[in-house]
Amino acid sequence: MDRIRIVGGNELHGVIPISGAKNAALPLMIASLLTDDTLTLENVPHLADVEQLIRILGNHGADISVNGRRERQGESYARTVHFTSRNIVSTTAPYELVSKMRASFWVIGPLLAREGKARVSLPGGCAIGTRPVDLFIEGLAALGANIEIDGGYVNATAPAGGLIGARYVFPKVSVGATHVLMMAATLANGTTVLGNAAREPEVVDLAKCLNAMGAKISGQGTSTVTIEGVRSLSGARHHVLPDRIETGTYAMAVAMAGGDVILEDTEASLLDTALEAIRRAGAEISETNSGIRIVRNGAGIKPVDIVTDPFPGFPTDLQAQFMGLMTRSSGVSHITETIFENRFMHVQELARLGAKISLSGQTAKVEGVSRLKGAPVMATDLRASVSLVIAGLAAEGETMVSRVYHLDRGFERLEEKLTRCGAHVERVSD
Ligand code: UD1
Repeated sequence: MDRIRIVGGNELHGVIPISGAKNAALPLMIASLLTDDTLTLENVPHLADVEQLIRILGNHGADISVNGRRERQGESYARTVHFTSRNIVSTTAPYELVSKMRASFWVIGPLLAREGKARVSLPGGCAIGTRPVDLFIEGLAALGANIEIDGGYVNATAPAGGLIGARYVFPKVSVGATHVLMMAATLANGTTVLGNAAREPEVVDLAKCLNAMGAKISGQGTSTVTIEGVRSLSGARHHVLPDRIETGTYAMAVAMAGGDVILEDTEASLLDTALEAIRRAGAEISETNSGIRIVRNGAGIKPVDIVTDPFPGFPTDLQAQFMGLMTRSSGVSHITETIFENRFMHVQELARLGAKISLSGQTAKVEGVSRLKGAPVMATDLRASVSLVIAGLAAEGETMVSRVYHLDRGFERLEEKLTRCGAHVERVSD
């Protein structure tokens, strides 16, 4: 199994190209099931989660071809992928496939809308908490679906004439349930109004793509999204928006290691709250023509308190990385997680590098230390794993991160991107 070896102490200088957003690419790929025409997605990141979803969509009858790559410094960082689901050959998403990646549960929306039925395995728990699917079920039922749970599967059936537009207010903000309800409602009879909808940029990107396919969606990016049902959707061509989590992760890596880096092909407006926290920690951040420049020269890292929240708040997907940064601050910071109940698995591993962190409920108290020391550590989930890389960049000596398949789920060519900027990071295959 691959491991990542980091020798800390080098500053980062150079350019890091930011990939297309994993969390936008996944729902966009799933949206291709809504039409028998071809959906072409540009700027699709090359990640294990994307490959897994390609397998899942293939199981439903999608014909998928990859062509066109964006070259950067002699390497390809983005792909153009064509998805054509002329016929849906199966409306079942089996446990073997869904259990590997929670987002694959989201096929329930398009399958139900287009075929009138779907049988999708419950995703099960995961490392960051129980992550139920009650909001999906409640929301789809509001559109008239009959839903039964049997043998670990959700069996959903639409009324004879198809789903029916309705008003549904989410009792809690959910990115995934907003994606699914939005997709399902595009082909419903009548108008659907979603209240307390997620406002994440990835929701806006999905709505933009669906509208290019002929859907009639408005209000995306606000908490009320209105979807006027249409009879059918067509193909389209769509460019996946930049990955704000990858952007924030590298910004924090530079804030941690010191240096001067341009993050290219990204937008500061996607992550204002996180950039503000990094700025307060002592880095200088400015916008360039094509992205963001981040500089930290000499000055130490200041302690900053953060609380995770749905967009536009501080993203939970950057919480672990920010904690990595705070381990080296000059004081005490508090990090509060409000989205997921068990998202502190990285605390034990950061402690192995010498970090001083104590947990009380949903808040971590991080007492900055003047020195971290490299050690063997284990990746526990996608974002936690990259917080160990960030800490490793500033640790003395060697940090060896095992279980890096977590990293490969969400970070395209991580070691190359960091090495090009002067970091000592390499993949070791046993
Ligand atoms: C998405 C992101 C993930 C990010 C999360 C929150 C993708 C592929 N994943 O996950 O990286 O961390 O948003 O920004 O885009 N919940 C319920 N019932 C439900 C659905 C959700 O209680 O039916 C709860 C969850 O357990 C969690 C909260 O709602 O506590 C938010 O989860 P949600 O926004 O749905 O996360 P995902 O869409 O799974």
